[in-house]
Amino acid sequence: MSEIKVNNLTHTFSKGTPEALTVLEDINLSFPSGSFTSIVGTSGCGKSTLLKMMAGLFDPTDGEMTLDGAVIRGTDRKRGMVFQQDAVFPWMTVAKNISYGPRIHGASKAEQQAAETKWIEAVGLKGFEDRWPRELSGGMRKRVDIGRVYANDPDVLLMDEPFGALDAQTKERLQSDLLETWRQTQKTVIFVTHDLEEAIFLSDQIVVMSARPGRIRHIEEVALPRPRSNEMRLTSEFLDIKRKLWNMLDH
Ligand SMILES: Nc1ncnc2c1ncn2[C@@H]1O[C@H](COP(=O)(O)OP(=O)(O)OP(=O)(O)O)[C@@H](O)[C@H]1O
Ligand SMILES: [Mg+2]
Repeated sequence: MSEIKVNNLTHTFSKGTPEALTVLEDINLSFPSGSFTSIVGTSGCGKSTLLKMMAGLFDPTDGEMTLDGAVIRGTDRKRGMVFQQDAVFPWMTVAKNISYGPRIHGASKAEQQAAETKWIEAVGLKGFEDRWPRELSGGMRKRVDIGRVYANDPDVLLMDEPFGALDAQTKERLQSDLLETWRQTQKTVIFVTHDLEEAIFLSDQIVVMSARPGRIRHIEEVALPRPRSNEMRLTSEFLDIKRKLWNMLDH
């Protein structure tokens, strides 16, 4: 079980800003255990803010978030986050980046090694264990980021536009790989993106937010069968959803 709920949440930034800024208003959401949800909405509508609060980086000004009924307070490795910016440690090899979480949480050498082997393979970085981040492409660094979060064995993965900066082909490959990892691990995934096609391809449900202050405009249940294939992106069912959601976004 790892169900996240957001209840009557509003958030206003008031510290260090000349005027208080309400970023999120009256948000109610439910992310069922094991589901894949994407959140889309125009830049600045509060998507990263919402995700950071789910990670426990700060509290909402009103309302609450719960994980399996318990109010979320502070960070916990059970809620792993892949940040919008690349967060790979440049001074660690690929393998050491991947096993960072288990290492700082006191795992034995054997457990660290096992995590490295498992997640390097799962994110497609076999053969690159001893490379430094500066020797990797942008897509490979994202793979390290994702493997590092999975190595903590979180119940919930919070992903903030992880593939935003990548070219279309790399993106498609990473999306398919992510779906495969999600299928095998059955973790709850909450995925922020600007890209409607990406959201439809990946998700069970898509949350469409309005411009700031972000509110929930619509929740789309994606009925496309799984496993998803790249050919599906061109089907009329897929394109109908894309057109519908595109018309709901603030342009
Ligand atoms: N710590 C902060 N203090 C004050 N204002 C903030 C803070 N963090 C974010 N904001 C403001 O809150 C609004 C929402 O920011 P957020 O990063 O959540 O948007 P977003 O939907 O993730 O946008 P993007 O799609 O561009 O990443 C923005 O106007 C931003 O300037
Ligand atoms: Mg953001």
